Amino acid sequence: MQHIKWENGCLVLLDQTLLPSEERKILCRTYHDVAEAIVKMRIRGAPAIGVAAAYGIVLAAQGYDEGDSSGLVKTLDEAKDLLASTRPTAVNLFWALERMEQVWLSNQAQGREETVRLLAEEAIGIEQEDIAKNKEIGRYGSTLVPDRAAILTHCNAGALATAGYGTALGMIRYAHQEGKKIMVYADETRPVLQGARLTAWELTEEKIPVTLITDNTAGYLMQQGKIDLVIVGADRIAANGDVANKIGTYSLAILAYHHQIPFYVAAPLSTFDRKLSEGNSIPIEERNPDEVRMLNGVLLAPENVKVYNAAFDVTPAQYITAIITDEGLLKPPYQTAIADVFRKREGRQ
Ligand code: MRU
Repeated sequence: MQHIKWENGCLVLLDQTLLPSEERKILCRTYHDVAEAIVKMRIRGAPAIGVAAAYGIVLAAQGYDEGDSSGLVKTLDEAKDLLASTRPTAVNLFWALERMEQVWLSNQAQGREETVRLLAEEAIGIEQEDIAKNKEIGRYGSTLVPDRAAILTHCNAGALATAGYGTALGMIRYAHQEGKKIMVYADETRPVLQGARLTAWELTEEKIPVTLITDNTAGYLMQQGKIDLVIVGADRIAANGDVANKIGTYSLAILAYHHQIPFYVAAPLSTFDRKLSEGNSIPIEERNPDEVRMLNGVLLAPENVKVYNAAFDVTPAQYITAIITDEGLLKPPYQTAIADVFRKREGRQ
């Protein structure tokens, strides 16, 4: 399923807010359109918003037609600032924007057309690399998935949350493709229901057995011995292995720890933020209270009731059994494992 497509100089996105009832494409012609799509969660998931923002920069360069290169740099800076302001938690957004910025900063002597070409090349590279990295995560991660396993996942860390294939769902896809008879419990993931609307949809489309549960059911299933492992994605991972992911992830990790069930996090290296020594400095997005008060425009609570709608939480590294990256499995102590994996990668570059 291709939900992000660079086509005829425009970014075409599948509107994820309408899934699963409608598969409607939207066309982004300007970087403002891309920023709006990210804010409204028409596209969401850490790696996917990074890819979309990279294309947003290409659109900004394409749309600039006033001549000199200092004006182009100013426009690109403005586009970067707007795109960076859309969602604060997933670090892939800032990582992709910084990669794009390197391209325009190191090519200032080029004309606009060449800059557009180079930026498009970089954005396509970010997109294609992400798919390849997810498949690597799948390959490494599948070794942790036993045949006949019952797997619990939260939110959507699938093809829709990445350029394609997925991280947590990438592991699940890979294990399924290897012929393992696995089954998945998908948390519905209130308030935006990425589990019910997106994960359940993706897995059903691929005929991977999936059972939808309310978020409150996870602990009961663990208590009954019905969950063999938990796999989730990540929005940002600090240098010590603390993980920010969709709200509710922390509660699952504590439950899994209590019941001695392995708790795995799957993420590419672009999700690590080594500038942050620990998770409590990760910015946590707080979203519109109406996401909690309402469902599809119908009020579920008193109109003016006070709401706290944090979109993410932080799971301390001590509750994580392993982190599966595109460069292999990381095991505790994470501080050392993370430093080593980056040192190894930098040594190769
Ligand atoms: O608010 P969302 O839908 O963007 O949150 C998505 C998640 O929390 C995912 O688990 C995370 O981004 C990893 S996606 C591979």
